[in-house]
Amino acid sequence: MKKTNIKIMYRSVKYLLILAMSLSINISYSSDFKEALNVIEVRKTAMQSLWHRIKRISPYVELKEKVDYNKDLATEDAKEIIVLLEKAKNLWSENSNLSAKGFTNATPAVWALPEYFGKLYSEAEKSAYQLKDSIIEDNIENTTEAMCNLGKACGTCHANFRRLLTNQLSNEVSGWSGKYIKNCNSVTVN
Ligand code: HEC
Repeated sequence: MKKTNIKIMYRSVKYLLILAMSLSINISYSSDFKEALNVIEVRKTAMQSLWHRIKRISPYVELKEKVDYNKDLATEDAKEIIVLLEKAKNLWSENSNLSAKGFTNATPAVWALPEYFGKLYSEAEKSAYQLKDSIIEDNIENTTEAMCNLGKACGTCHANFRRLLTNQLSNEVSGWSGKYIKNCNSVTVN
């Protein structure tokens, strides 16, 4: 083989290698991105399910009787709130910090202030456990307090770490952004 041919061959192999490398980087980037989108989707769904359970349990906590709802269902909902909080706890991977591109409503503060985020998260968990226990024990006062504290933790977290579009504010503010039962003011919330 001529020397020039060998040179050309060597060069093409080099280019092929570079091409293959950049392709694999692209592929791993896009699967990383897909994984992030999946994480965002799953955490939004978990949050929606949390809200679904809160809505169901609130009237019970407010002592509004309903024929098709009882202590067993309330206990089940309270347990599920704990499960959902535990599940959503691990869904904040660094690569899902994508609010700039509009893929998530979680603001970059989640990743910039992990301690404060974690503190509010722990408060929500603590209140959820208290809610479950006090429902089981039929302790009305503690049930109210737990629900108020839970609402406060969820609401404070959203106020600090979730971006809202102005048109979403009006219909969400009375909903899941904070106060889940009416008689919270009489209770001391820490
Ligand atoms: C420590 C912080 C934190 C706590 C506690 C928390 N959330 Fe969230 N929640 C968020 C963030 C951040 C988002 C935005 C997630 C996203 O867009 O990726 C969110 C989103 C939501 C959404 C909208 C989901 C969607 O489809 O976009 C609902 C509903 C919700 N949360 C309900 C709740 C309820 C109910 C509780 C309490 C029982 C709760 N959350 C507790 C931080 C929290």
